[in-house]
Amino acid sequence: MSTLLPPGVHAPGDPAVPASARRRARHRPPLTRAGIFGVGAALPDGVVTNRDLERALETTDDWIVRRTGIRERRRLAEGELLAPLATEACRRALADAGRTAGEVDQVLVSTVTPDRVTPGLAPDVALRLGAPQASAVDVNAACAGFVYALDHAAALVESGRAEVVLVCGAEALSRITDHDERSTAVLFGDGAGAVVLAADDGLRVGCGSFVLGADGASADLLYADLDERKLRMQGQEVYRHAVRRMVESTSEALARSGMTAAEIDLFVAHQANRRIIHAAAAELGLDPARVVVNVDRVANTSSASIPLALAQAQEDGVLRPGATVALAAFGAGFVWGAGVVGFKERPHAGD
Ligand code: ACO
Repeated sequence: MSTLLPPGVHAPGDPAVPASARRRARHRPPLTRAGIFGVGAALPDGVVTNRDLERALETTDDWIVRRTGIRERRRLAEGELLAPLATEACRRALADAGRTAGEVDQVLVSTVTPDRVTPGLAPDVALRLGAPQASAVDVNAACAGFVYALDHAAALVESGRAEVVLVCGAEALSRITDHDERSTAVLFGDGAGAVVLAADDGLRVGCGSFVLGADGASADLLYADLDERKLRMQGQEVYRHAVRRMVESTSEALARSGMTAAEIDLFVAHQANRRIIHAAAAELGLDPARVVVNVDRVANTSSASIPLALAQAQEDGVLRPGATVALAAFGAGFVWGAGVVGFKERPHAGD
């Protein structure tokens, strides 16, 4: 049997192959890669500036900008649903990728603030998109949810179980913010962003080098309880862990992809706080010119923040086809993740 295989490649379960070699074989790059071919974003119309918050809380624009980098955030109106916003982000991502809703195999929506406890957002988004053939599921991994969902989507595509997957981060954090508590009220915003992931055999970077982690022992440092439904956190502890975990996971993702920080065109991290993003980038050896920051315009939108930042970067002309991008996120759990991805490595999947 093994003579039919290329030199050095053994059949799975071949007793001649030591266990260590079999373990390494499972980490071989897949033959089919998943690539990001489109990105889209949607924000609610309501804008809340730091000046607006000054009128309601004992805070100042100066304090908020210095400690967080945030200048304004978007907010859904009372009673407004999140699903239409998520759907719009997905529509824009599909249009950007030159794909139709009818081609989507799965809709993955990352959210901690769905419109109902159950069902989740994803089936509603698939319905509104006009994708009745698609399976649809929500992912809850707090602010790291988009990176987790992207890794899962890439695995679906690489394994051949799906050709096209929509990965959306959609959040209405205003629903779980204590608007009377100044240390958290100023931090959060609402929004949705999405990317289209599709199979392509000819990609150099693809979407394969992800590193995910979790530590449930730190849950009490950042959480929202079922009864109270308000985000509570120990800000400085969260800050410290966020920088450490994003740096560690990004370094490991780079090593797995066989790249160095010098080969990264852009660093797009969860937009929690400008200081956290720049501290992580500096430790990774990435100069500020390669770091995407849009927390000033949208605040912390949890798992929507990375696709929102990608869409903003594309609109600003900073994220261009063929770019190699490092993604990193950290959130309640604690959970964290990082990945190295190629953005629009080819004009269309399969070209
Ligand atoms: N305006 C004015 N003063 C304020 C405000 C405010 N909005 N909020 C807090 N303060 C005061 C505090 O009361 C404190 O006053 P004191 O010294 O008299 O006691 C002082 O400012 C310093 O407070 P700290 O909490 O020590 O301020 P810090 O520099 O740590 O900044 C911040 C706070 C911005 C929250 C920071 O800790 C941080 O960014 N942490 C990480 C937050 C984060 O990223 N969370 C994760 C995302 S949440 C999610 O995943 C869903």
